[in-house]
Amino acid sequence: MKPFSPIAHGYWRLMEWNLRPEEIARLMEDSLALGIYTLDHADIYGDYRCEAAFGKGFSQLPASVREGVQLVSKCGIKLLSTSAPERRIKHYDYSYDHIVQSVDTSLQRLGAEKLDVLLLHRPSPLLQPEEVARAFSDLHAAGKVLDFGVSNFTPAQFDVLQSTCEQPLVTNQVQISPLHVDYLFDGGQDHALLHHYAPMAWSPLGGGRLFTPKSERDQAVLDAFTSMSHSTGLPIDTLAYAWIRKLPSKPSILVGSGKLERLQSALDALGYDFPLEDWYAILQASRGHGIA
Ligand SMILES: NC(=O)c1ccc[n+]([C@@H]2O[C@H](COP(=O)([O-])OP(=O)(O)OC[C@H]3O[C@@H](n4cnc5c(N)ncnc54)[C@H](OP(=O)(O)O)[C@@H]3O)[C@@H](O)[C@H]2O)c1
Repeated sequence: MKPFSPIAHGYWRLMEWNLRPEEIARLMEDSLALGIYTLDHADIYGDYRCEAAFGKGFSQLPASVREGVQLVSKCGIKLLSTSAPERRIKHYDYSYDHIVQSVDTSLQRLGAEKLDVLLLHRPSPLLQPEEVARAFSDLHAAGKVLDFGVSNFTPAQFDVLQSTCEQPLVTNQVQISPLHVDYLFDGGQDHALLHHYAPMAWSPLGGGRLFTPKSERDQAVLDAFTSMSHSTGLPIDTLAYAWIRKLPSKPSILVGSGKLERLQSALDALGYDFPLEDWYAILQASRGHGIA
């Protein structure tokens, strides 16, 4: 499989960016030119509207440019939505039919012939691994999905699914940020290293909370980054991405901004090796205590 770009672009907030199709196309071209080619979606983003909005921009790109994009999407969450008035409750659905149908809909909305990677969005207690494995095999055989992975799975949930799937699961997309460090301690990173897959880090800036602290701990993290920003001359977002990239599992970082200059800030992180003691200072601020 083509590796994820170290900095990837998340399209969850696309509807907030208020971009016309030609502007979406330009953003994609510009991000590709920067080497950011992994573009992350989910069927449900923007209340089921993001993939189609993206598709309108995607279709304006020449085929040679489109081929350079690595498309990731997800399935499995069923939202309460005006587009599904019959639904009574938000729930997960990992039935064969839903997975296959969801991919067909995503492809149609994105205007793409295939997904590079399909992720199961969140684990469900009702997920039947054999049924999922059958859907994966058929989607792969039909050329609709090249690779498969999961999101927000525990290592054990990953292993159970993997034990039934022919295809290797290529990622677990999880929340990682200086404000959310569970992945470092819950076995998530160890699992990625052991099985040699590339994790993806969602909400690397805590969804923007890094800049708008909601607690004393958040404030302590921001203060620590602010002081490092003064001493290094690097912006706080660059430092936050570099803090995540210091992890040995080297997560692909999903930037959630639609602004090109923020993507550039993320790329700058790849050239900065976060000093060891500074790295632990951020961890300490985040956890509210030092290490043992
Ligand atoms: N698998 C999952 O369950 C899951 C869950 C959530 C997200 N995701 C994926 O992860 C991607 C990223 O998530 P996210 O959007 O929460 O990421 P994020 O990068 O943590 O947060 C993005 C937010 O931070 C703001 N921001 C960025 N740089 C800033 C700066 N320098 N100063 C102030 N604000 C700044 C952005 O505002 P501006 O727009 O103004 O730049 C935007 O509102 C999503 O697009 C999606 O693909 C996956």
